[in-house]
Amino acid sequence: MYLATSRSFLFSRKMAQCHCRWRRVLLCLCCAPCVLVGSLCVYITLAVCYGMTTSTGLSSSAPILPESFIAPGLTRNDYLAPHPTNSFWDPKPHGGALWNRLQLPIDRHYNPILMPKSSKEHNDHLDTNNNNANYLRLSLPTLNAGFSEIGNLTSQMDDFQELPLQMQMFVDSMHFRDYHVLIEPAKLCGRGLKKGQGPLLLLAIKTQGLNFENRQAIRQTWGWAGWVAGATGKGGMVRRIFLLGKNHAEPHVNISELLQLESRQYRDILQWDFHDSFFNLTLKDVLLWDWLSTHCPLARFVFKGDDDVLLRTPALLDYLREQTIQSGGPGSEGMKGFMVGDVIRAAVPNRVNSTKYFIPDSFYKGLYPPYGGGGGVVYSGELALRLKRISRRVHLYPIDDVYVGMCLHRLGVHPIHHPAFLTFDFPKKERVEQCAYHTILLIHKRSPAQVMKLWSEIMTNQTECRNTILRMEKEKKNTLLIDPFSMKDNKGQELLMDPWDSSGN
Ligand SMILES: *[C@@H]1O[C@H](CO)[C@@H](O)[C@H](O)[C@H]1NC(C)=O
Ligand SMILES: *[C@@H]1O[C@H](CO)[C@@H](O)[C@H](O)[C@H]1NC(C)=O
Ligand SMILES: *[C@@H]1O[C@H](CO)[C@@H](O)[C@H](O)[C@H]1NC(C)=O
Ligand SMILES: *[C@@H]1O[C@H](CO)[C@@H](O)[C@H](O)[C@H]1NC(C)=O
Ligand SMILES: *[C@@H]1O[C@H](CO)[C@@H](O)[C@H](O)[C@H]1NC(C)=O
Repeated sequence: MYLATSRSFLFSRKMAQCHCRWRRVLLCLCCAPCVLVGSLCVYITLAVCYGMTTSTGLSSSAPILPESFIAPGLTRNDYLAPHPTNSFWDPKPHGGALWNRLQLPIDRHYNPILMPKSSKEHNDHLDTNNNNANYLRLSLPTLNAGFSEIGNLTSQMDDFQELPLQMQMFVDSMHFRDYHVLIEPAKLCGRGLKKGQGPLLLLAIKTQGLNFENRQAIRQTWGWAGWVAGATGKGGMVRRIFLLGKNHAEPHVNISELLQLESRQYRDILQWDFHDSFFNLTLKDVLLWDWLSTHCPLARFVFKGDDDVLLRTPALLDYLREQTIQSGGPGSEGMKGFMVGDVIRAAVPNRVNSTKYFIPDSFYKGLYPPYGGGGGVVYSGELALRLKRISRRVHLYPIDDVYVGMCLHRLGVHPIHHPAFLTFDFPKKERVEQCAYHTILLIHKRSPAQVMKLWSEIMTNQTECRNTILRMEKEKKNTLLIDPFSMKDNKGQELLMDPWDSSGN
């Protein structure tokens, strides 16, 4: 009995074990496909749902793409870009435009990928001990090399004889930039100062010999030199300098004599020995950077602008203090690349030959880099010194603001756009607001009489407008002048790939 029971027990245990094993196998056999089928189902459902949402999205709210961006016939997928019909590279760099051809070898020489050593921005240990002559001798040959490689510039431009006179004059003199100083103020910033003792703001204003009225208005209003209180903050030390070239001889007045007198009176005239013309304005930037590096290297900020603007200097001082604190103090990384203004992006050269901005495409091809335009920008003293160095690697360009943009581009610096820098005028609605002028830092195109009147009004309205804040971007402004997809400019002319990066990589 015991045996039987134990046997049957054993048997039943065996059976149970068997059963168990079978059940496991069965389970496996049954469930594995179930799990697989299940996940397949989930996957299919998800895929179908996703497909439905995307396809319904497509039919209702898909953006309408520009025509040139669609590849017809390739697939039915409209999101694909077309195959390029031409090669990406340009066998004759930028169609042989003169400036591009001159700049190409230099950008290649300093290309950070091809030549990591020579591209270093600071091969300027020579520069720190003010050994200017030595520095120039070492760095200029590259700019000159471009000229000797190309040879006679005028014969390189097919249409040279038909170009406007100012363009011809520019090409004829663009190889030279080391004009000497005729008049300069002594001790503008105070030599032998220690770090942190320079002025907070240096106002560098481009003017012409005959614009005496403009200079007078500026001296009495926004260009006041000395300690200037902020609109709300404590303010800081401000210095002022006017930048001039030489004028044509006037029949009745001897301007250079008058300038000497003016310089003795106000000590704010910096004049160089070049012909003061629109296409020579770039020289004022380049020569100012040189001059600053020896005469005012400790200026914390530089305002560079025209003599027909109104600058709200007290508010600017507040803004600059705020920016300095936000970026981590003077000498911080942020301050080394600080520039603010009305930044214009993706502009194209003006090809209308009757305007003063006309640049023929035999001279320059491509887009302009982002640049601060419209009468004035502010940048840090550190950036001014970097611009000075890099400018020795960028060929002069006839439009000053664009030239500064080209230098910034090579430094990898992005200027900050601020809507309180008004290039044109107020939008109609804003102009009639009582505290309109307390919302801006700079406004362009104001006559000396207007500057005087507005300035005194701004001062008397100070208390009632003290809570007014600076203008902010109200809506996205469309500054793009080109269709980025078709790479055509506003005259329908074909642009090249990566148009303003002529570094050849
Ligand atoms: C450059 O070429 C033009 C015409 O092609 C000529 O008139 C001019 O004298 C040349 N200049 C020099 C410096 O060779
Ligand atoms: C103007 O005055 C300066 C200095 O007195 C003199 O050198 C220059 O020749 C004068 N120019 C004219 C056109 O009279
Ligand atoms: C710029 O100044 C130089 C030196 O006076 C002169 O030779 C050149 O013609 C001027 N350029 C323009 C575009 O006026
Ligand atoms: C300007 O361009 C037109 C045609 O595009 C031409 O006829 C004219 O001669 C040009 N004028 C100048 C000053 O280059
Ligand atoms: C100053 O305030 C008056 C009215 O109180 C206004 O008409 C004028 O436009 C204001 N001017 C400026 C520059 O703010």
